[in-house]
Amino acid sequence: MKDLILKELIEKKGCFISGQELSKKYQITRAGIWKYMQKFKEEGYEIESVSNKGYRLISEPDKLETIHFDFDENWLIGKEYIYLDKVDSTNDYAKKIAAQKPDGSVILAEKQEKGKGRLGRGWDSGYKTGIWMSFILKPDIITSDAVMVTQIAAAAVVKGINEAVDCDAKIKWPNDIVVGNKKVCGILTELSGEIESLKYIIVGIGINVNQNASEFPEEIKDKATSLKIYTGKEVSRKKILISVLSYFDAYYKQFLKNHSLEGIIDVCKDYSATLNKRVRILHNGNESEGKAIGMTERGGLLVEDLHGNISEIISGEVSVRGLYNYAD
Ligand code: BTN
Repeated sequence: MKDLILKELIEKKGCFISGQELSKKYQITRAGIWKYMQKFKEEGYEIESVSNKGYRLISEPDKLETIHFDFDENWLIGKEYIYLDKVDSTNDYAKKIAAQKPDGSVILAEKQEKGKGRLGRGWDSGYKTGIWMSFILKPDIITSDAVMVTQIAAAAVVKGINEAVDCDAKIKWPNDIVVGNKKVCGILTELSGEIESLKYIIVGIGINVNQNASEFPEEIKDKATSLKIYTGKEVSRKKILISVLSYFDAYYKQFLKNHSLEGIIDVCKDYSATLNKRVRILHNGNESEGKAIGMTERGGLLVEDLHGNISEIISGEVSVRGLYNYAD
C-alpha cells in the first residue's frame, strides 16, 4: 500500500493529488493518508500539502530502493529490480538467481562486502557512496559473441555519466571508464554456458560517485577517483543510474535485434581514451607495446606494433600512456 501511494506521488511529481481521491482509491481514511505522507517526509521526500488541493511531491531523496518507479515501462532492463542493503557481491548474487530471473533483471546493493574486480582483484564498494549493480542478461547468441556485451555496457555508462554529470568521461578499452585520467568505473562481465549455448551473462558495473579522496584504499589512491572528487560537489546517484539504464536498455535492444554492435561501436570510438595512444598489452604473461589504431566491428582493439604489424586484441590488460597505470 505504502509503495502504491508513493509510486503515484512520484509518477505525478509536481502535480497535486487530492487526499480524498487517494483515500477512495486505496480504501483508507484521509487520516491514514496523512500518516503515510508524514512517513514519506521522514524518509526525505519533500511533500507540499495544501487544503482543498491535496498533496504534491516536490523532491525525492537520493534513494535507490524506490528508483524502479522512475523506470520507463517499456524498458527491458530493470523490469525486475532487486534492491539490497548489503551483499557480498552483486555479481555472485546475480549468478545464484540467474536461472529463475528474466533477461534484463537488475540487482543493486548499497554496499558490497566482497566486491569483485577483474583478474581476481577486489572492488571497494562503500555504503551508499557509489552504484554497485549487476544485470542478468539472456541474449540468444553464441558464447563467443558475449564479448560484445562489455562494449555495450561501456558505451551506456560513458553516455549515461556524461549526460547526468558535467564531466568528460571516456572509455579505457575495454572496460574502464575514466575521468580526468583516473578510473571512475569498472565493468566485470562473467558468463555461464558452453561454446554453442550461452546460459546467461552477468554484467557487473561499479561507479564511484560520492567518495572523498580519503575513502579510497592507499594502493588505489593514485589511480581511482569519484565523480564527487572530480566535480567538487555531491552528485545524484539516482540521476546517473536512470541515465545509464536508459542507454543500456536502448543499446541492448539494438544488439538483440542486429546481433552486432552497429551504431554502438561508434560511441565506443568517439569516447575512447585508448585510440591513437601508445599502449602496453599484457596477455598470457607476455608484454608488448604498440599504438591503438582502431576498433573492429566486434569491439576488438587494433594495435600496430613497433614493426608495423597489426593485430586484434580481444581481451587482456591494456595500459594506455598518460593514464593511471602507464604514466611515463
Ligand atoms: C574492474 O574494473 O576490475 C571491474 C570492477 C567491477 C565492480 C562491480 S561493482 C558491481 C559488481 N559486483 C561485483 O562484485 N563487481 C562488479
